[in-house]
Amino acid sequence: MNYKHIIAEVYQEVKNIEEKGQSASYIPELSKVNSENFGIHISTVDNFDFGIGNYNEKFSIQSIAKVLSLSLAYKLLGEKIWERLGVEPSGTSFNSLVQLEVDNGIPRNPFINAGAIVISDILVSHLENPKEDFLEFVRTLSDNPDLSYSDKISASEKSTGHRNIAICNFMKSYGNILNDPSEVLDFYFDLCSLEMTCKELSKLFLFLANGGCKVVDNKRILTKSQSKRINALMQTCGFYDESGEFAFKVGLPGKSGIGGGIVAIHPNQYAIAVWSPKLNKKGNSYKGMRFLEEFTTKSEQSIF
Ligand code: DON
Repeated sequence: MNYKHIIAEVYQEVKNIEEKGQSASYIPELSKVNSENFGIHISTVDNFDFGIGNYNEKFSIQSIAKVLSLSLAYKLLGEKIWERLGVEPSGTSFNSLVQLEVDNGIPRNPFINAGAIVISDILVSHLENPKEDFLEFVRTLSDNPDLSYSDKISASEKSTGHRNIAICNFMKSYGNILNDPSEVLDFYFDLCSLEMTCKELSKLFLFLANGGCKVVDNKRILTKSQSKRINALMQTCGFYDESGEFAFKVGLPGKSGIGGGIVAIHPNQYAIAVWSPKLNKKGNSYKGMRFLEEFTTKSEQSIF
C-alpha cells in the first residue's frame, strides 16, 4: 500500500477546502494557536513512517489523553474499573451533564469528560504521585523523555473549567468521586494539557494497533483483550455524539481532542495522527475528519 502517495494527495485536496468551524475558545490559551496549521503523520507496525504539513509541531492533545489515562487505569486495576463507569456511547456532547442524574453519577463511558474524570479519580487513588507517575507512563509508551504537560494550557483551563468542576462535584454527590474534587480536577486538567506532535502521537498510539505491545521493543502494555476493548471504545465513543458519523465515514477506531487533533488506529497495521485546530459543531477537527474519510476511502482500507 502506497500510504505516502495517498496521504500527500489527500493532504493537498483537503488543505484547499474552504474551512468551516472555529478553534476552541473556552480554553483561552487554545484560541492563540494558528488555526491554519494542518499536519498528518502515519506510523505502521512494520516501521514505515511518513508525515506531511505541520506534523512536527507540538499541539495540545486534550481528550486524546483520555485514552492514555484509561490505559493506565485498566492496566493497574483490570475489569474492576467498570464498576465505576460504563462502556456505552452517550449520544451527548463531551461535556454534558444530563445523563448523570438519571444514571446516578455513573458516566456512560471513559471518553466523555465525566468518565475521564472518574478515571482521573481512580488514578489519584492508586498512583503515589499522580501527575509525575502518569507522565512517566506516557514517556515509557513513547520512549520519549521530552514529552510533557503545558502549564500554560492547564492553568488556562483551570481558570475557566466551571463545567468540569460541576460534573466532578455532581458525581461526588453520588459517591462516585472518592478524592477531593479539586485534586481530581487538577490532575484531569494536567493530563488534558499534554503536548505532542502528530509524529509523536502516531508512534505512541502504535501499541493499540499492535495488540497492546509496543512495536519498538515488544514490551506488553495491555493484554490483547484490554487493547481490543480500548479500540472498541474508541470506535463507539471516541467522538461523542459524532461517533456514529466517524465510524460511518472513516471506519476506524479513533479519538479526537478539542485542540484539533485526531488519532485513528488500524489494528495490525498503523496509527495515524491528524491535526487541524478548526472544529466542527461537535467539537471534532473539521479537516481532520475530512482527511481521514478521504484517506480510508482512497486506500480502500478500514476495519469493515
Ligand atoms: O475537559 C475539557 O473540556 C477539555 N480539557 C477536553 C475536551 C476535549 O478535548 C473534547 N474533544 N473533542
